[in-house]
Amino acid sequence: MGACPATPYCQDMADTLQIRYGTTGAEADLAITDATIKAPELRRFVIDGEPLATYDPGFMNTAVCRSAITYIDGDAGVLEYRGYPIADLAEHSTYLEVAWLLLHGELPTASELDGWEALITEHRMLPDKLKTVLAGFPYDAHPMTILMASVAAFFSFYPDAQNFTDPDARALNIARLIAKMPTLAAFAYRKGRAQPYVTPDDSYGYCENFLQMLFKKAERRYAADPRLVRAMEVLFILHADHEQNCSTNAVRSVASSGNDLYTSCSAGIGALHGPLHGGANEAVLKMLREIGTVDRVPEFIEGVKTGRARMMGFGHRVYKNYDPRAKIIKKSVEDVFEVTGVNPLLQIALELEKYGLTDDYFVSRRLYPNVDFYSGLIYEALGFPPEMFTVLFAIPRSSGWAAQYQEFITDPEQKIARPKQIYTGARTRCYVPMDARS
Ligand code: ACO
Repeated sequence: MGACPATPYCQDMADTLQIRYGTTGAEADLAITDATIKAPELRRFVIDGEPLATYDPGFMNTAVCRSAITYIDGDAGVLEYRGYPIADLAEHSTYLEVAWLLLHGELPTASELDGWEALITEHRMLPDKLKTVLAGFPYDAHPMTILMASVAAFFSFYPDAQNFTDPDARALNIARLIAKMPTLAAFAYRKGRAQPYVTPDDSYGYCENFLQMLFKKAERRYAADPRLVRAMEVLFILHADHEQNCSTNAVRSVASSGNDLYTSCSAGIGALHGPLHGGANEAVLKMLREIGTVDRVPEFIEGVKTGRARMMGFGHRVYKNYDPRAKIIKKSVEDVFEVTGVNPLLQIALELEKYGLTDDYFVSRRLYPNVDFYSGLIYEALGFPPEMFTVLFAIPRSSGWAAQYQEFITDPEQKIARPKQIYTGARTRCYVPMDARS
């Protein structure tokens, strides 16, 4: 680390950061652990009567927890769950195996996996009264709204989720959440189409059961192409966790005031819904449609460079290299299109990517395709409408949120989330009666 340009100045020491406040000459050695200093230690310095703090909108350079779940090296484009590279998990595992890994820290043995799959299968049904809640939504309600409200409502059906310090109650509610997410998503989808709900079928695995709950019509037995089932499995694995992103931070923040799993994850669903986060894959498809044809790509790129448009599915807070998930998804696109036929929007996406990887605007800012750039194309090929895309992200992310929730509430260092502010408003004004206000 180089010297800071202005006072207070800092300099490197072996395992401490020495800080001297120029105005008073006050000095302190702050311990460096894991390349961080403890921000509360800065309070030792008092500046104009205020304890020194850091200002960090969007948590650009602030660690809020110690976590052993997901490792990302954004510069190198590395993503690992519990130390296992994402590409290996995507190639060899099922989503439920990965969910177990995130929750327990180890890949399951064959008998652990059998037990885990059986537990999830057992809890796939929704509480019957939840259907009344679903019926109350307008027919065109966004499925993420339905998901968010229904997951919050789970707490009224399973109040034992409040016993989150009891490992058994916690494990049961985590299993309930992971098991019920696809059912909820499928019901929200069919409600929007005024189609009757299809209940879970124990004879299918996690992903195929989801597909049959979504797409089963009058056929005796729904059968999905195994390549599509595998593509869904891979997408679920890739989306299962991504350390301290916006929605995980929302889950942890809401959990920090003593909330149950469902309330906390409902907040995560809300955060995920935003177009700068999980909503980006929906925005990518919209962008591709608006561009319309490959020959209009240069004009669109000019718009991005002059600030008139944003290249959705590009850029990432952490990855300053090709998002490793985007690489795997790009390969899945080919597999899926083999079954479904090629979506013409793919040509526009490939052309955009070509510009993105060579044009100085993107190169100098280190903007690369992220997980959302190609996922929407697969979802569309699988038959999902855009409003379901973020739902497809939320289903697998529930296992990551649950793992993060579990880690949070068992971490003795954690406290209620309560950031500081720098107050910039007026102070101690004289009250103005109504008739004196201009
Ligand atoms: N298109 C055009 N320019 C971009 C883009 C983009 N997609 N992303 C970043 N930039 C530019 C910014 O305008 C800024 O330029 P400047 O330095 O000239 O002002 C620079 O790159 C840095 O961007 P920031 O917005 O500061 O980066 P930040 O880390 O805050 O944002 C984010 C990351 C929100 C993901 C951003 O890249 C973005 O909006 N991308 C498009 C939306 C998207 O794809 N989101 C999905 C992310 S993955 C996920 O959440 C699962």
